[in-house]
Amino acid sequence: MDINFQKGHPLEIAGDCLIVGLLEEEEFTSGALESANMALDGSLRQLFDEDELVGKSGTSTLIHTLGKVTPKRILFTGLGKRDSVTEKVIKDVVSAAIRKARGIGLTKVVIAIDTFCSEDLSPQRVCELSTLATLNGLYRYEDHISEKSEKTIKEVILNTAAPAESSVISYTAIAEAINLARDLANAPPNFMTPSILSDIAEREAKANGIEFERLDEDKMRELGMGSLLGVAQGSNEPAHLIILKYIGDKDNIDDSIALVGKGITFDSGGLSLKPPAGMITMKGDMAGGAAVIGALIAISKLALNINVYGIIAATENMPGGKAQRPGDVVTAMNGTTIEVINTDAEGRLVLADALCYANHLGVNKIVDVATLTGAIRTALGDQIIGAFGNNAEFTKEVIAAGAREGERLWELPADESFSKHFKSDVADIKNVGGAAGGATIGAMIIGLFAEDTPWVHLDIAAVSRTNSINGDDPKGATGTPVKTLVSLCKSISECR
Ligand code: BES
Ligand code: ZN
Ligand code: ZN
Repeated sequence: MDINFQKGHPLEIAGDCLIVGLLEEEEFTSGALESANMALDGSLRQLFDEDELVGKSGTSTLIHTLGKVTPKRILFTGLGKRDSVTEKVIKDVVSAAIRKARGIGLTKVVIAIDTFCSEDLSPQRVCELSTLATLNGLYRYEDHISEKSEKTIKEVILNTAAPAESSVISYTAIAEAINLARDLANAPPNFMTPSILSDIAEREAKANGIEFERLDEDKMRELGMGSLLGVAQGSNEPAHLIILKYIGDKDNIDDSIALVGKGITFDSGGLSLKPPAGMITMKGDMAGGAAVIGALIAISKLALNINVYGIIAATENMPGGKAQRPGDVVTAMNGTTIEVINTDAEGRLVLADALCYANHLGVNKIVDVATLTGAIRTALGDQIIGAFGNNAEFTKEVIAAGAREGERLWELPADESFSKHFKSDVADIKNVGGAAGGATIGAMIIGLFAEDTPWVHLDIAAVSRTNSINGDDPKGATGTPVKTLVSLCKSISECR
């Protein structure tokens, strides 16, 4: 699918469908509407008077132009009242419109960019949002479906006079990274083992000028990663610690950030086995790792002036004959001993060693991304990422990075008052606390392994997949929080 630009009057641009943003207004006043109305012999005024062209959010009206103007159809998409038009509204309505165009079998769509702009929303920004809406909104995962969908949008034309080419190139890289992260997390678990994940990471890294390394189980044993290996030992699939290294700031080679992802390619719960209903989505328990891989690739394509490590702890969590038992004690790379009370709380166990490794590399900041707890959904619902950190300023920076790109993050507490809940009688800590504050307990256990490095933990368990279309997220894996990670690295790189 190509995204191209064309200047000129929207009614003079050839295409199957012109997508127009329409505000909800009392009067038939808008300039854009009036010129289209004249070209269409007053029919728009008539539709308006008959309440069929209302601009209410969630509504749309498709009209056939029958040769009176160049576009074959016009799809008016309701934006709602002027004050309520946010970036999210634009992205959601453009996604819906373009999906609708695909649904009726159209192939060439023109977006009238100016009709979505306002004082706060520049044509460049609307082009960026349209790029995400198009590439992410049209995403579908069909790798294992014999008869692929035939309906495909081939070309999207952004109708604007504004110089937005570089914005669109950047956001194409971001949108493609999101789709890659979705592909990884949507893949069935027999097609996305730790080895396959690591092979894909290697291929993508090499294609994008990113250094790649993988630590096998022997190497991890040598480094003392007993916590990660404890999770891996119940599976026949070998674990990998995947390491990506993007060097974008050679002059400050000692300054770097680590993005660390939970990469459980299937979480059965281990011997603390999950019930079937809770297990079915657990192929997506590597969504954090997938987002880290996607982010590194986008960061490299954007050539950001920053050094970034991507570290993904990839393993299955299975209840095999060699599986770790509830009650086992494991030792992480930094010497901390952990009593494994519940083998289903495996994310913190693999991240413990991944964070130790980040510190071993000497990074200055760490962000970990994990589908860590069911508790985060209870706390924040299914639209918000839980954020936890050990450094107020850095946590704020990460939350602000998300806000700039429409990914909502909310900070929850992670302070010493929770520590008593994961004290163990037989080891330094245990891997679960009580039922209360589950997301915080998980975060705090991970935080122990960040030690003094500024660190933020993002719990994406509730937002990593959606059961139904949600804006530019089709059903399935969302690719969250690629945008936050890229935006964070961009802002750090611009502060130099
Ligand atoms: N992968 C799960 C968390 C999860 C739940 C992700 C639902 C996505 C959707 C994690 O490994 C897990 O099982 N966590 C346990 C922790 C508990 C045993 C302390 C949980 O949340 O129940
Ligand atoms: Zn689990
Ligand atoms: Zn898990």
